[in-house]
Formats: sequence, structure tokens, C-alpha cells
Amino acid sequence: SLPSAVKIWEVGARDGLQNESVVVPVAVKLEFLSRLADAGLSVLEATSFVHPKWVPQLADAAELLAGLSRRDGVVYPVLVPNERGLDRALEAGVTHIAIFASATETFASRNLNRTLDSQFEMFAPTVSRALAAGLDVRGYVSMCFGDPWEGRVERAQVVAVGERLLEMGCSQLSLGDTIGVATPGQVESLLEGFRDVSRLAVHFHDTYGQALSNTLAALRCGVTTVDSSAGGLGGCPYAESATGNLATEDLVWMLDGLGVETGVDLDKLVETSAWMAEQLGRPSPSRVVRALTK
Ligand code: HMG
Ligand code: MG
Repeated sequence: SLPSAVKIWEVGARDGLQNESVVVPVAVKLEFLSRLADAGLSVLEATSFVHPKWVPQLADAAELLAGLSRRDGVVYPVLVPNERGLDRALEAGVTHIAIFASATETFASRNLNRTLDSQFEMFAPTVSRALAAGLDVRGYVSMCFGDPWEGRVERAQVVAVGERLLEMGCSQLSLGDTIGVATPGQVESLLEGFRDVSRLAVHFHDTYGQALSNTLAALRCGVTTVDSSAGGLGGCPYAESATGNLATEDLVWMLDGLGVETGVDLDKLVETSAWMAEQLGRPSPSRVVRALTK
């Protein structure tokens, strides 16, 4: 069976723009966020408080949040890897953060400059301080299905990392197929490995065209929060071969067809992604955006 409603966790401004070769001006990012809110999206992952040398595309995080006019009913989570990032995020007045762990040794090193084990030493004080400050903390797990350096990733390894984040106090866990290699059977198997599906979200990249099939499999397992990126922007600069996220338009088209509520106005969203594609100087990879802007 399917849920009657799905919460879309829009990551375009963060996961999308972090992987663009151009640095998008703050004013354009603010207009993007404003248009996404107009289109009915209620979770807008806005930026990351990471090291500006690692992700120069998001080095303007403080300026962005200072310029943001927050809408009622919309939350603006930001990625925070460590206490330094948390300090910056608190200064910017955020209410929702997300830490991001790796399920593999190689990606922990490449993305966080830490070992698989020592990443938790970075997260533990970050999460406890964030919770004490009254913030909501989401936990991402990357490379849940495959890793470009290590190949297939064992389910037990992903579950172990994820359960540690939940035990630290993360309210939700987003399971990331960072390089987009998963297929639906693998998704079902991973979800079954966790004790409580209600605390899980899924985060698919569409490299092999499986993101929607994987999403449907996850919904049938009881997942009700799905990450996606307007226009299919995105990827990850520290993961070779990670192409765009599942496009929000593709997701909304499927959910509209299934009669599953999202609160999103597809026409407004497509207009926004077409506008963003113009700003970036290249067409949106989303099939639905292309079909509806012909
Ligand atoms: P590090 O070099 O090990 O940091 O990087 P450090 O703790 O050794 O500190 C070195 C210097 O950096 C210090 O400055 C710190 O203050 C500074 P110094 O004392 O030498 O002058 N520093 C910072 N400055 C600003 N903001 C900070 C910060 N932290 C330290 N937050 C670190 C470790 C984690 C910071 C670095 O590796 C990093 O920024 N990584 C982020 C990489 C990233 O953003 N990747 C993309 C997001 S993950 C993703 O996209 C996957 C996802 O979508 C899910 C999926 O698809 O699977 C979420
Ligand atoms: Mg991602």
C-alpha cells in the first residue's frame, strides 16, 4: 500500500548548487528559494556550513541566511559537519540542521577527512550541542548501496552507521544512494534492516535512471519523506560519477498520478526549474521539466 501524503525534502539549493561549476549569486539563490516556497515546497534545504574551500559554491551560507525571508510553514535545514559549522549555523539563526555520515571508509576520508569511526567523534558533540540549543537534527548516510571506490556496500554496515546516528538523537535518517546505483530490491532489503521505518527518508540520485522505481519501492515499505532536487540539479563534488538527484518534478508527476498528496504546484515548480536552467546556462535534466516546457 502507499501513503496518502509524502513530505518532499527539497535539496536543490544545497545538493543541487553545491555541484555546479559556477558559483550562483546569492540573489539568484534567494529567488530560487522564494520560488520553491511559492510552488508549495515546505522543506527547503538551503545551504551548508562546511569548509568554504571544500565547497566554494556554498561559501556564501551566512550571507544567504541573512538575506532569507523565512516563510511561515517552511523550514530551511542546513548541512553542518562539525562544531565549527554548528557555531556558524547558530549565528545565522537556523532551526534545523543535518549532519552527514558516510557508510564507507573511503568516502568518510574523501568527504569528511575522517575515518569511518572518527566521523562519529566529530558528530557526537555537534549533535548534543544542537539538541541542547533546541535544534532539530537530521542524519544523512551516504553511499548506502554502492561506493565508487569500494563497490557494493554491505547492508549491515549501513544499518550500523544509521543506528548510531539515531542513537545520538537524530530525528530522521536519510539514506543516500550518492552515486545512483541502487535498484528496488536492494532498497527494500536495506529498509527492512532498520527497526523503525517511520524515522527513515530516502535520497536517490538518478545516474542509472532508477530513482523513481527506488522511490516507489521505499513508499511501499512505509517511507513518507523523499528527498529530491528541483529540475534534477545536483550531485556530489567528492563522489565521482554522482549525477543529479531525483528531480522533484519527476517525483511530483508520479505522486500526482498515484493520488498521493505533496502540496506542490507542478506548473509553478516547472517554471522555477526552467528559470534556474537559464541562470545556469544549461537545460534541466528532468524529463518532466522537458516535457512540460516544450
Ligand atoms: P578538516 O580539514 O579535517 O577540518 O575538514 P579541521 O577540523 O581539521 O579544521 C581545519 C580548518 O578548517 C580549521 O581552520 C577550522 O576552523 C576550519 P584553521 O584553524 O586551520 O584556520 N573549519 C571550518 N571552517 C568553516 N566551516 C566549517 C569548518 N570546519 C573546519 N564547518 C570538514 C573537515 C568536515 C570541515 C571538511 O571535510 C568539509 O567541509 N567537508 C564537507 C564536504 C561536503 O560538503 N560534501 C558534500 C555534502 S555530502 C553530500 O552531498 C551527500 C548527501 O547529499 C547525501 C547523499 O547523496 O548520499 C548529503
Ligand atoms: Mg546527495
